[in-house]
Amino acid sequence: MYSLTPSMLTGVSQLDAEHQDLVLAINLIEEAEHRHAVPDLIKRLIAFKDEMALHFRHEETYLDLLRYPARDAHAKHHAETLVALARMAEELDDGRLEPGDIAAACFNELLGTVLMMDMRFLNWHAEQKRRAGK
Ligand SMILES: [Fe+2]
Ligand SMILES: [Fe+2]
Repeated sequence: MYSLTPSMLTGVSQLDAEHQDLVLAINLIEEAEHRHAVPDLIKRLIAFKDEMALHFRHEETYLDLLRYPARDAHAKHHAETLVALARMAEELDDGRLEPGDIAAACFNELLGTVLMMDMRFLNWHAEQKRRAGK
């Protein structure tokens, strides 16, 4: 079972709650993967992708509000993450990909990188606030 470590928390409660839900979705993927239930695994992977897409939309609205200068690059990475997830589901479906490392890849590679990118804008935001003397 996966969980968010303290270093993965952003301090923005809505974002943290959504990141937490993404981890829960990965745990459902892991459960289906352990059962070798490929149709369930694909369904849950697509549910994870949809939840990720919703979270990205919320986060991009937040980045717009902050006028984050690297907003477009950040959104581009979001879009690429969704493409990678869609590809994974497709490859599972046609047998090019076998269950085994799907949940681990979702957590370590996909979510790990997504959260690392989030830390960049949080650091930027903290620096903005510090400069403004807030
Ligand atoms: Fe993000
Ligand atoms: Fe995020």
